[in-house]
Amino acid sequence: MFKYPKVNYIGNKEKIAKWICDQFPEDAKILFDAFSGGCSLSYESKCRGMEVYTNDVLEVNYHIANALIQNNNTLLDNRDIEIIFSGEPIEGFMYENYSNVFFFPEECKELDLYRSNIEKLDSKEKKSLALSLMRRAMIRKMPYSRFTLNWEKIVQLRDEEYSYKKYKRKRAYHNQSFKHHFLENVNEYNSAVIDNKKNNIAYNDDIFNLIEKVKADIIYLDPPYTGTMNNYFGFYGLIDDYILSTKTEPFKNNFVSKSEVISLFDKLFSKLKNFKYWFLSYNNSSYPSKEELLYLIKKYSDNVQVIERNHNYQITGKNNKKTNKEFLFIVKNELYQENTKEIYANAEL
Ligand SMILES: C[S@@+](CC[C@H](N)C(=O)[O-])C[C@H]1O[C@@H](n2cnc3c(N)ncnc32)[C@H](O)[C@@H]1O
Repeated sequence: MFKYPKVNYIGNKEKIAKWICDQFPEDAKILFDAFSGGCSLSYESKCRGMEVYTNDVLEVNYHIANALIQNNNTLLDNRDIEIIFSGEPIEGFMYENYSNVFFFPEECKELDLYRSNIEKLDSKEKKSLALSLMRRAMIRKMPYSRFTLNWEKIVQLRDEEYSYKKYKRKRAYHNQSFKHHFLENVNEYNSAVIDNKKNNIAYNDDIFNLIEKVKADIIYLDPPYTGTMNNYFGFYGLIDDYILSTKTEPFKNNFVSKSEVISLFDKLFSKLKNFKYWFLSYNNSSYPSKEELLYLIKKYSDNVQVIERNHNYQITGKNNKKTNKEFLFIVKNELYQENTKEIYANAEL
């Protein structure tokens, strides 16, 4: 069986992806994962033979999707790995902007070398695989696996003696090299590349720019859960900076602010006419409440079912596991009309 590799995406649905896919109606063959993140749901759907389109506003998530979902065949071989790790560290974008901010200067120089070498790989799929693995290495070296800590805290948590005294764990993996982590994961990522004989597509846009240009049987909505830890630009924007060699700006329509989220959901639901079924993930600690969301959805369809199960998100850093009820809204779009418009999956967007 094919196995989803270690992506460790915050808020991922890896543990409940099978449960969600089990609810998909039999006539649904094409899925649009509109907030695809680390692609756990897309990957499960791809393995089940669905044609899968993904989208996420973050560049790094596009590369995960391009590597594992759109890519049906391409792997990294030994020659590619040699290219990525050849040469001497260089003083580039990371060294200049993020030395002693997220990594030590020598580590930044290594990242700069690998970034420039990845450009020498001979296909987009290989570049995306390599960038996904570099992401995995960066995350592995970062305490709490997100880029929202200040440097003093990072240095403290990377001090193995301190960590052992305080948490009884050395967390030595924070101090292993990028190369070590990359090599440790490369076989797993390569083995996760499967050919499901479908024309899977990865998009990289604000969903509000894209939503009316894609058509699929199911749209899966897993937006950031407002009121929970959900600052995805803060968590991963640094990796976009690394990939693009520029300081990126926080994205809009991010579901962070409680004052905007209701109108954002309403706007989203009003634009889903191209999808026969809507699946929405949500939980009991988020804002607005399940009842308020139901009210919003019912403006567009009376055919709504909500199912639930327990699901624990592991919250690193606080050492706690919060017991959480995960909801799945299943909506049949009564206004959906088959074959009205033949869009868009292959259109230039
Ligand atoms: C809860 S996570 C998705 C997790 C994913 N289902 C998984 O299993 O890994 C929400 C995602 O929505 C993305 N996002 C937030 N606002 C967005 C927007 N306006 N357009 C597209 N993506 C957005 C974030 O970057 C984040 O990756």
